[in-house]
Amino acid sequence: MSKGVNYYVEAGKRAMKWHADYQKKMKQCRFDTIAVHGVYSMQEALDFNQGAIIEPIYMSSSQAYRDSDEMEAALSYQIPTWCYSRIANPSMYYLEGVLAMLETYGTKYTATCCATSSGMAAIAAACDPFLTVDPKKPNEKMNFVATCQVYGGTFQQFAVRKDQEKNIEWRKVVKSNDIKDWEKLIDKNTRFLYGEMPSNPGQAFFDLEKVAKLANKFKIPLIIDNTVATPALLRPLAWGADIVIQSVTKTLTSSGFGISGAVIARNNLSHLKIDNEPLKANFGFYIKALPNRDNGPNISPINAILTINDIRTLRSKIDMMSRTTMKIAKFLEKHKHIEQVDYLGLESHPLHKLANKYLVLVDSEFDEMYKKKVNRYGHLMSFRIKGGAKNARLVFDAMERIWRATDLGRIKSVATIPSISTHQQQGEEARKTADIPANLIRLCVGGEHPDDIIADLTQALSVLDGKKVKFTAPEYSAGGASSARLRK
Ligand SMILES: Cc1ncc(COP(=O)(O)O)c(C=O)c1O
Repeated sequence: MSKGVNYYVEAGKRAMKWHADYQKKMKQCRFDTIAVHGVYSMQEALDFNQGAIIEPIYMSSSQAYRDSDEMEAALSYQIPTWCYSRIANPSMYYLEGVLAMLETYGTKYTATCCATSSGMAAIAAACDPFLTVDPKKPNEKMNFVATCQVYGGTFQQFAVRKDQEKNIEWRKVVKSNDIKDWEKLIDKNTRFLYGEMPSNPGQAFFDLEKVAKLANKFKIPLIIDNTVATPALLRPLAWGADIVIQSVTKTLTSSGFGISGAVIARNNLSHLKIDNEPLKANFGFYIKALPNRDNGPNISPINAILTINDIRTLRSKIDMMSRTTMKIAKFLEKHKHIEQVDYLGLESHPLHKLANKYLVLVDSEFDEMYKKKVNRYGHLMSFRIKGGAKNARLVFDAMERIWRATDLGRIKSVATIPSISTHQQQGEEARKTADIPANLIRLCVGGEHPDDIIADLTQALSVLDGKKVKFTAPEYSAGGASSARLRK
């Protein structure tokens, strides 16, 4: 005898109420507690996961249903379901739950997160639903307004995939700290505002609260890339942003085990002018259930759990790495071969005061060590070498402890020269506008002791005093993708 669809819908309502109550309780906890436990409760472990105290990796393509009624209720999204891992999966859910809670920490808001296979996929998933053709105005030329100081991959997505290939104009904000620079670019065809806080690698920074008010005035969303700050230092939704994107690959997965991303959106965006009610009601769920279902860019369950394990200690890690970065920035600032250090933590940085308003170590006032709000500025910085690109390459090539790689957010210190790597494709002109000269080295400081990183930088910089650099000729495998071996 069929139980009927309604039987499952009622059971689903009870489950959803239980989860909502649990999350309300969790919301009262401090940031560290939320980061450790997220939405994975003891009840969930005992009822569904054999008591496993760590969130399990659900390596399964799909979910089975008891009967056709349950399948119908599930596939019409009337009950909690994960259905098929291209769309959702319990491991993804545990990650999405914790990210949504951390990005809304300390606010009255609730948010929904959709985890993706990379930060770039997250950016596309956050922006593209606002770039759809209005059937009433098929010839309208859409535009979006975004800072020109963005990660190189974001630059390519905006400049090539959207502007060049789809004829959607990217209007670039050059002086992002000047609100007039934003406002003058907005018109009735502007679909969203976008910025990185702080930017990679240049540490560009703007008054988020003012930009959010501007977005609100035009009834368009403000999308913020919060990768560099992480929710441990900044929660843009609390300042009025509508949507946050994360390259989860970075500091959130400091172990470096995988590539992933996330879109975290405030629920209820009814103030937006876009004519799409489901999108406005719950943007995170909307993209998960519709565009991402159809385009397929969501995260894999294994990456979700690898990230969860790193997030548990996010606050203390970013505190430690920020303090180390500050020490290194101060050391470099005084070094004879350094032309300029870009780090928001330095008092000499023109945006230092503004950064103090936004970059605060979460819960530092409840920390035994501080007992007050303290500013922390993250572990990404850059510095420019006197004597131009040639000298920058000499110093870079002499690094021994710091890894040369196009990466950031790691527990190991990593450096790159953006003009020849992450920001190479955007070309000389765009790098000039974004202030990314060829003598700039980006350094993302890891969990090592600061003395050892300073020692490495000291020896690397001494190459400019005539120290010789060791050179070993490489051998490459035919595949190219596998690593090069070094010939003695
Ligand atoms: C600030 C920022 N946003 C987005 C991305 C893209 O993220 P992913 O490499 O995970 O696609 C990066 C990558 O470096 C980044 O630094």
